[in-house]
Amino acid sequence: MNKETPSLSGFYKLNQGERWNRLATVFDLSAEEIGLLKRDGALPHELTDLFIENAVGNFPMPLGLVTNVLVNGEEFAVPFAVEESSVIAASSNASKWVKQSGGFTATCLGSLMIGQIQILDIAPEKMEELADKILASKELLLQRANETHPRLVKRGGGARNIEVRSFPHAEIPFMVVHVHLDTQEAMGANLVNTVCERLAPEIESLVGGRAGLRILSNYADQRLFRAHCKVNPELLALNEPDRKLSGAEVAKRIVEAYVFAKYDPYRATTHNKGIMNGVDPLVIATGNDWRAIEAGVHTYAAREGRYQSLSRWWIDEEGMLNGEVTLPLQFGTVGGVTRLHPVSQLSLRILREPTVKTLSQIACCTGLASNLAALRALVTTGIQAGHMKLHAKNLALGAGARGKEIELVAGEMVKAKDVSATHAERLLEFFRNSSIIDAPVQQSLS
Ligand code: MEV
Repeated sequence: MNKETPSLSGFYKLNQGERWNRLATVFDLSAEEIGLLKRDGALPHELTDLFIENAVGNFPMPLGLVTNVLVNGEEFAVPFAVEESSVIAASSNASKWVKQSGGFTATCLGSLMIGQIQILDIAPEKMEELADKILASKELLLQRANETHPRLVKRGGGARNIEVRSFPHAEIPFMVVHVHLDTQEAMGANLVNTVCERLAPEIESLVGGRAGLRILSNYADQRLFRAHCKVNPELLALNEPDRKLSGAEVAKRIVEAYVFAKYDPYRATTHNKGIMNGVDPLVIATGNDWRAIEAGVHTYAAREGRYQSLSRWWIDEEGMLNGEVTLPLQFGTVGGVTRLHPVSQLSLRILREPTVKTLSQIACCTGLASNLAALRALVTTGIQAGHMKLHAKNLALGAGARGKEIELVAGEMVKAKDVSATHAERLLEFFRNSSIIDAPVQQSLS
């Protein structure tokens, strides 16, 4: 693109066809490349255009199913939208160990969203007294909040509590009023933001300050869900011909790995990434806001002033491996794109139209399963063995292998312990020149 001319100015005013033409000119894209953007697949262009601004196409993401997820006695196949190899296999395998040990138990510890109203221009020495004044008007404020959403109240939701926090020592002193809202089946961003905007002038006239920000908090620590599992260590034993480890030893090592993540934030970050491997794909598949959930979860991991593991693993008196994860989750099953995106609708159908509570509980379980699978791999053969098999297939595909060739090229690379793009190309060439395609090739190559 010519850096001196802002060639995309007015892009938002163009219709879809004009945008593709402009893109082709500005970025010198071929008809084939523009053709990729023109394919709309499961998401029609009209919807894409409605969802976002300056839309030029869709970015397809693989959708798969995690199997064997037994939550509170009910089994689910869980849709995952994810680009990373092994994530679905890992979560399914660990869910199977849990299922064979009795399944996950999951609970909801709270289901309230938080809205924040910042109040400025208050003398720090008056903050305590004004906080009391706000709390004394709690009932009135809750009533005002509920007047904003009569339909939500009718459905059983609405404002539940008011809290006040003060920051008298900040360089610009301020107070914050929190409104706790039960948003029922909605993620609740719009509901909460409307309430905050409605209450702000009310609070201003009550305390005489000036309202600053009026917005939800994505740190949903009043909307917590927990999953627990108890796994028979026998199921975790390593039975490979050249490497054997008892289940009890694997369980012990998993606890050691957890302790590493408990104390070391460098490890905790990766450990928690492994948990989110089992959460984000479900968030995406159901059309939910994964940035909100990611933001909230990591703040929760640092709630004690130090970033820690979100899960806990221990061995009980009976020798069973126990795992538990608690996550602040802000899912919706209505609103946003959940009911508009054809694939998120389908995902919710596959999950048998769960409530937000069930969906959040399932996410905790698949998160815990992903964590368990990663830890077992890390404390036994290491993570690369499994990854390499799938990575090899990607490399084979990248080298141009198609159909049967993919398995052949990938299999040979893993066997030879040389998984690389150049090896994939050499093997593919060899296979294509070889007349006996299914014969072992090891000797002929060396
Ligand atoms: C890779 O996507 C996730 C892991 O790094 C998680 C972990 O280290 O626990 C394997």
